[in-house]
Amino acid sequence: MSARPLAILLESIHPVADGPLTEAGFVIERAPGALAGDELASALARATLLGIRSKTELRRGFSPHHPLVAVGCFCIGVDQVDHAHAAAAGCAVFNSPFSNTRSVAEMTVAEAVCLFRGIVFKSAQLHAGLWGKSAASSHEVRGRTLGIVGYGHIGSQVSVLAEALGMRVIYYDTSRKLALGNAQSRPSLDAVLTEADCVTVHVPETPTTRNLIGAKELARMKPGAMLINNARGSIVDVESLVRALESGALGGAAVDVFPHEPASAGDRFSSPLMGCANAILTPHIGGSTLEAQEAIAIDVAEKLVNFWRHGSTESSVNLPQVDLPVLRAGQLRILHVHRNVPGVLGQMHTLLAGAGVNINAEYLQSNERTSVVILDVDPFERAGVLDAISALDATIRMRTIKG
Ligand code: NAI
Repeated sequence: MSARPLAILLESIHPVADGPLTEAGFVIERAPGALAGDELASALARATLLGIRSKTELRRGFSPHHPLVAVGCFCIGVDQVDHAHAAAAGCAVFNSPFSNTRSVAEMTVAEAVCLFRGIVFKSAQLHAGLWGKSAASSHEVRGRTLGIVGYGHIGSQVSVLAEALGMRVIYYDTSRKLALGNAQSRPSLDAVLTEADCVTVHVPETPTTRNLIGAKELARMKPGAMLINNARGSIVDVESLVRALESGALGGAAVDVFPHEPASAGDRFSSPLMGCANAILTPHIGGSTLEAQEAIAIDVAEKLVNFWRHGSTESSVNLPQVDLPVLRAGQLRILHVHRNVPGVLGQMHTLLAGAGVNINAEYLQSNERTSVVILDVDPFERAGVLDAISALDATIRMRTIKG
């Protein structure tokens, strides 16, 4: 049996993930698809790190007695993992929320160009054998006003790319955001809707963004304006959008996300938007590029390695976040995940002080249920101290790292 720790990577995670993991000493086992049942239980019981994408459901099977310390979701979403169950076993869960930001931004700007040139309609005509050469209703995007709703990671990237094409950018965000380039903020959604030639939404899906763009909002847009929704299907009311397109109130729309999306590639799809003229429909592929897959693989693999080597839970979705400096040579780092109950830190201090162990640094973060405490201590010989900390009632999981 190998003494090196095992990383099991499922669902054909991009091979660049192997680099950081191998360099950190992991043996890598791969499977092309998702696992379930006994096969998944075996992976959970054997691996120190487990890498999944969206198809592996991790609802049970975590145990503080397994070697598994972290799960890497090599994707954006993390709904496939029961976060609380993983935390209760002291397992950190990581993902890569922003590695496909640029892919979405590029597609958005490309769609704006396609909408203003009627590319989809003209392409369909030509596929049907009709030479529809005409400049009618065809416009450059240069000088047109792009209205961005939600100026976060994606919205701000769209802003930069659109300005590079000569567009005038305005935006509305519920939080104060630094305007990039010459972009200008507007005080309300309505101000953006009434001023922009093309509106693109990049807000998260929350109860307050459901139907953010409905009949009332569409009616406020300029006649012939374009709408792009590459965010989430619930944000734009589809029935109202169809009416606005069919009546000619809107000039066109690009939609990548839908209230009801098929589960798998190859499944049948249906939407009232099908057949609408100058509507670009794409199957939720805004972030789906090989570049994004590669960026996700590197990002998540590095987060897993950083947690394994240094104990850093920074950007974990389920454990309190502790970002740590590199451990000094010769020091011992104690990583202790425990239930968030009073007195645990005091008990650890007492045990270490009783053994004459000097604590050089201490980091603690808690959420409602769980605490992560990291202690950097001078090396010590006294047997039994670590076992005693590990045996504390509230301990979920403990491990040590040598500097
Ligand atoms: P982000 O969290 O970086 O930015 C969202 C911004 O929206 C924040 O600045 C926030 O303050 C703002 N916001 C929230 N509610 C608002 C409201 N009611 N009005 C105006 N602004 C509001 O998120 P990010 O990464 O830019 O993602 C944006 C959207 O793109 C999300 O819905 C995400 O799910 C979606 N997305 C879609 C992909 C695709 O394949 N089509 C891929 C990746 C993300």
